[in-house]
Amino acid sequence: MARAKISLIGGGQIGGNLALLAAQKELGDVFIFDIPKAEGMVKGKALDLMQLRPHDGYDSNIYGTSNWEDLRDSDVFIVTAGIPRKPGMNREDLLATNLGIIKDVALNIKKHSPNAFVIIVSNPLDAMVYSFYKVSEFKKNMVVGMAGALDSARFRAFIAMEVDCSVQDVTCMVLGGHGDTMVPITRLGTVGGVPIKSLISPERLEEIVNRTRFAGGEIVKLFGNGSAFYAPAQSAIEMAESYLRDKKRVIPCASFCEGEFGINGYFIGVPSVIGRGGVEKILEFDLQDDERVALKNTLEAVKKTVSETQL
Ligand code: APR
Repeated sequence: MARAKISLIGGGQIGGNLALLAAQKELGDVFIFDIPKAEGMVKGKALDLMQLRPHDGYDSNIYGTSNWEDLRDSDVFIVTAGIPRKPGMNREDLLATNLGIIKDVALNIKKHSPNAFVIIVSNPLDAMVYSFYKVSEFKKNMVVGMAGALDSARFRAFIAMEVDCSVQDVTCMVLGGHGDTMVPITRLGTVGGVPIKSLISPERLEEIVNRTRFAGGEIVKLFGNGSAFYAPAQSAIEMAESYLRDKKRVIPCASFCEGEFGINGYFIGVPSVIGRGGVEKILEFDLQDDERVALKNTLEAVKKTVSETQL
């Protein structure tokens, strides 16, 4: 059986880490794609990773390219092409630049690999995934945005730090848009099955929720130039792995909703089952009144950014 072919569009900070993780997990052969100006950089990264293989013992091949032809018939694309944030910017400030890039990427993926599963990471995420879907005309289950996986991982990390317990035993989900209006569902968070609300005071939990909302910005500020890349890369790899290995993991992702949670015609973070069929289903559950209001609020923010993509 041929190895899976994983193409990474954008070979910058996240792209480089995606290549490392995909190769180490032997998800398939990895192609790192970037613009011609950055071709040397991605070819260099690919070669460096090929030379890491003897230590780690993985057999995936890693290539760098700026030629779309090399990506023909890829199984999975992970798209990070675009510019990241600088301090003081929010994700929406990236819209104008990244929109042009995502449209070009969508047409090229459609032309070279019309049956691929596509994970969008470029920001502003909810608008980027929407634009990709519209331009590519892919089926809704084959396009998904990486946001909830990262936001939930951040929430889990902060809870584990607070309780001083293994992060493996923390289960939490963050729904909604990938911005300040995201909705951490504190009611359903648990530590080893124990509700987080019995372990953490309401005031402290509120602080943790707020830190989660602005966790990306906290890192942007510390870096001074660029945004987070280790955790975003791992979050996208988890989604790619679930697709390629048909694991049917339940991951909060920006999936296309058609009535789920009362949302229609938008990509937004909802618990999604990812398997060989792409986004196979969305797991819906009853929201409490405050959660419903918060989800409505985040949907309005997503709608606003999406409407700006059509100007
Ligand atoms: N096609 C392919 N790659 C492109 C294109 C394009 N049309 N335009 C830009 N790129 C490449 C850049 O050359 C760069 O190497 O995308 C890469 C982006 O890498 P970084 O600047 O290091 O950004 P990164 O931190 O990886 O974040 C990428 O993901 O989380 C989001 O907000 C983040 O939108 C940003 C994206």
